[in-house]
Amino acid sequence: MIRKPVVLITGAGGEIGHGLIEHLTTHGDRAVITLDVNPLEPALASRVQREFTGSILDASLLERIMSEFEIDAVYHLAALLSTRSEFTPVTAHQVNVEGTLSLLEFAQREAESHGRPVTFLYPSSIAAYGLPSVDEKRRAGRVDEDAYNTPSTMYGCNKLYCEQLGRYYARFYKQLSATPQAGKVDFRCVRFPGLISAATVPSGGTSDFAPEMIHAAAKGEPYACFVRPDTRIPFMAMPDGVEALLALAAAPRERLTRTAYNLAAFNPSADEVYRQVLAAFPSASITWQTDEKRQGIVDSWPEDVDDSAARRDWGFAPKYGFERAFQEYLIPRIRERYRR
Ligand code: SER
Repeated sequence: MIRKPVVLITGAGGEIGHGLIEHLTTHGDRAVITLDVNPLEPALASRVQREFTGSILDASLLERIMSEFEIDAVYHLAALLSTRSEFTPVTAHQVNVEGTLSLLEFAQREAESHGRPVTFLYPSSIAAYGLPSVDEKRRAGRVDEDAYNTPSTMYGCNKLYCEQLGRYYARFYKQLSATPQAGKVDFRCVRFPGLISAATVPSGGTSDFAPEMIHAAAKGEPYACFVRPDTRIPFMAMPDGVEALLALAAAPRERLTRTAYNLAAFNPSADEVYRQVLAAFPSASITWQTDEKRQGIVDSWPEDVDDSAARRDWGFAPKYGFERAFQEYLIPRIRERYRR
């Protein structure tokens, strides 16, 4: 039986999945199949060849997908984000780590069965970092991939470890076996900053204060920001995040010197985000109500990251800086969204 290669997206109904499905089904050369615990919105569902609703931890479901499709790329987006993971750390570990392990093994078996490497795209996060104090965070400034790999959240630990797991599959898998097994999973990972989408609102993350503030203002709802105005972490507009995944997926393998790459675009303070929001929505009602515990998490994330490896190896170049992200993407698209 001849089967056409397809792309699998897990966690497809989430924020990144939205933009990725749109892009791959408009410009891609392969059909897309999806796996998510919740059914996709009808507009997304109609774009994909097949939608599976279920858990990435369901081994028999993965078997079924494998028996029906020939997969040559996986975008493994399913995860519990950082705030949610602190309330249910064991579940977070199951979904974020055991789920990723089963997807890596799934990709390995796919590659062994059709004889070509499976490209495996994995979104890691600035949560993989853990800076010990706000003073140290200010001193550290722009951090490279290998500094401060001491995350303080369950989610961050999960992401950092899965970066290593992916590297293991790509470079060392079953290194003592008689025939070489590594490299069948072509693991490629980006460490995303906080992502801000005009199309969706995040849930369960700790960088959510920026997107929540913008969406609330556009809807005319009051918003109490849970971090201090001087809080600074990197952010990126969602279209650049999706573009980055696609660019990394398309990069020639021999150009890649790492398996995990930092990405940066802009890094406003919460107060600078607030000012942009107020300029666009002058009647917005935004107050400051620091949640010390969530503040502690954001304070442990770097204020900026060094993304020179991504720029050098695969030409990462975000289109949206801070002003442009607001003026040309977020504000017009979000206005449009809530006008309907
Ligand atoms: N946006 C994520 C979170 O806040 C970080 O990767 O959990």
